Amino acid sequence: MDINDKISQILTQVEQMQAQSRDELEQLRIHYLGKKGEITALFDEFRTLSKEQKAEIGASLNALKNLTANKLQEMRAGYDEQQAAENKLDLTRSAEPIALGTRHPLSLVKEEIIDIFSRVGFTVEEGPEVEDDKHVFGMLNFAPEHPARDMQDTFFVEKEEGVQKPTDILLRTHTSSVQTRVMTTQKPPIRVLCPGRVYRNEAISARAHCFFHQIEGLYIDKNVSFADLRQVLLYFAKEMFGEDTKIRLRPSYFPFTEPSAEMDISCNICGGTGCGFCKGTGWVEILGCGMVDPNVLEACGIDSKEYTGYAFGLGVERITNLKYRVKDLRLFSENDVRFLRQFSAC
Ligand code: PHE
Repeated sequence: MDINDKISQILTQVEQMQAQSRDELEQLRIHYLGKKGEITALFDEFRTLSKEQKAEIGASLNALKNLTANKLQEMRAGYDEQQAAENKLDLTRSAEPIALGTRHPLSLVKEEIIDIFSRVGFTVEEGPEVEDDKHVFGMLNFAPEHPARDMQDTFFVEKEEGVQKPTDILLRTHTSSVQTRVMTTQKPPIRVLCPGRVYRNEAISARAHCFFHQIEGLYIDKNVSFADLRQVLLYFAKEMFGEDTKIRLRPSYFPFTEPSAEMDISCNICGGTGCGFCKGTGWVEILGCGMVDPNVLEACGIDSKEYTGYAFGLGVERITNLKYRVKDLRLFSENDVRFLRQFSAC
């Protein structure tokens, strides 16, 4: 086959050439234009020709080379475009690394407490954080001059700008206010949990804050006794801190309960033998409780001769401290992600 035939044969091939992939494209380039490629070989052959023949063939050989190079270039560009389009919809690409959020430790503990009490029939009620004196103090048997009403302990809300006192609008200091709302609007039997944020006028430190979270419980029915209260609290302590947990009730005072008590649990760090955490006593205080004072029932329109009830109130921060050993209360409200991320596995 003379060189002219070879040129026209390759020309037909090149005009029809197609590639299914970038690899195939590269194979074609090597096949025609590579060091040992067919067109390269023609140039080698060209060099052996006579002057006349060179003049005759040179142009068409060059044209073949350029056509091939252009065609390969065109096909490559097509691939680049296709690749770019595909990249936009590349379903195999890994997802953006968006960090998963975590639940706040106080929310985790709140949910756990609600879950434990809901298993024995308690339902959740919520109420306003900005309250009136009547629901926070008055109906709960606080004497008119009770020190809790002092501005040192309670945040009052100015009704009119600049007019501080007397005002009966305040930030609730406990969620017992929700209990008075429930007692005045529902008929016994009542079995509710009242979770929520409460406010007290305290200097902020590692051990005190101007707001914190409570969950208070209330059960009112015929023949509710102190034994029922003790039983439900023992159940809660064992569910929350483990089967071996013991409880002890110490006499205390709250205006709205009579008798009143504070409950300790056996220290969940040393198991009751005494350690730095429980100051060597083996016990840690976790909540206040008592039998609802008949004055409170009457103030809320419930017949205290027919009904009795118990109430208890616990601090969510306190329980969280015991469960997760968080020593500084301020961590709960600083939103430091290094603190919050530690609860991702909880
Ligand atoms: N309300 C009390 C407090 O804020 C807690 C409590 C609730 C005590 C119910 C007894 C009964 O400290």
